[in-house]
Amino acid sequence: MTIIETPTGAPLAESCIPVLETERLVLRAPRIEDVAAVAELANNRKIAEMTANLPFPYRPSDAHAFVETLAATPESATFALFLKREGALCLAGMCSFGRRAPEPAPEIGYWIGEPFWGLGIATEAARAVIDYAFSETGLSLILGSARVVNPASRRVLEKCGFQWSGVGLTRVKALGASVPVDRFQLDRRTWASLRAWGSTALPRLRAPH
Ligand SMILES: CC(C)(COP(=O)(O)OP(=O)(O)OC[C@H]1O[C@@H](n2cnc3c(N)ncnc32)[C@H](O)[C@@H]1OP(=O)(O)O)[C@@H](O)C(=O)NCCC(=O)NCCS
Repeated sequence: MTIIETPTGAPLAESCIPVLETERLVLRAPRIEDVAAVAELANNRKIAEMTANLPFPYRPSDAHAFVETLAATPESATFALFLKREGALCLAGMCSFGRRAPEPAPEIGYWIGEPFWGLGIATEAARAVIDYAFSETGLSLILGSARVVNPASRRVLEKCGFQWSGVGLTRVKALGASVPVDRFQLDRRTWASLRAWGSTALPRLRAPH
């Protein structure tokens, strides 16, 4: 993850959110000009029913309100994810972390537009946001959760080093109900260890003597 820009003079919440770049993605604060693309991707029952706050149907007015509300929630960091494709940037999803009282630490959340599922984008984005959170802020813990019927999201959390910490209930707006979730957490020391492990070479195999 590379921080390619820390905006200055940008309005409201956007002023706090840097632009991050990974091998395939650019992550930046959502803007009003993204509203149509956000609404197109997010208007999907399969996404809404796996996330806490997305309504279904999801209208352009919901996307507009979402972008405007970000300005009023400086305790959260929300990144729109853009896939680099033939020199252009194509909106692929959203990833955020933010603290919800009375939780002791911020929780990471993400959704990917269905045309982009299965390409490793959620994992690449979540890792970038986690790297940003631990390397650029003083956080010591990040929480995550996934509906018990959502093995793909659970797998994303596991690939990012999260460890299962228990079960709970989360309200899902699109269902108008609370549903069981598995809870996960990633602490700074585990993240640092995984980063260090990933940068070491595999051991060489030597013939026994
Ligand atoms: C869950 C979601 C974020 C995954 O996005 P993605 O970009 O496809 O995820 P990735 O490709 O990075 O990783 C998905 C992993 O789950 C695995 N997976 C997918 N479907 C699975 C299933 N039914 N059972 C088990 N594993 C599954 C994939 O094989 C992959 O693991 P691997 O790399 O070890 O093979 C995406 O499907 C989505 O947005 N769903 C709706 C919203 C949502 O669930 N958000 C998360 C809320 S907690």
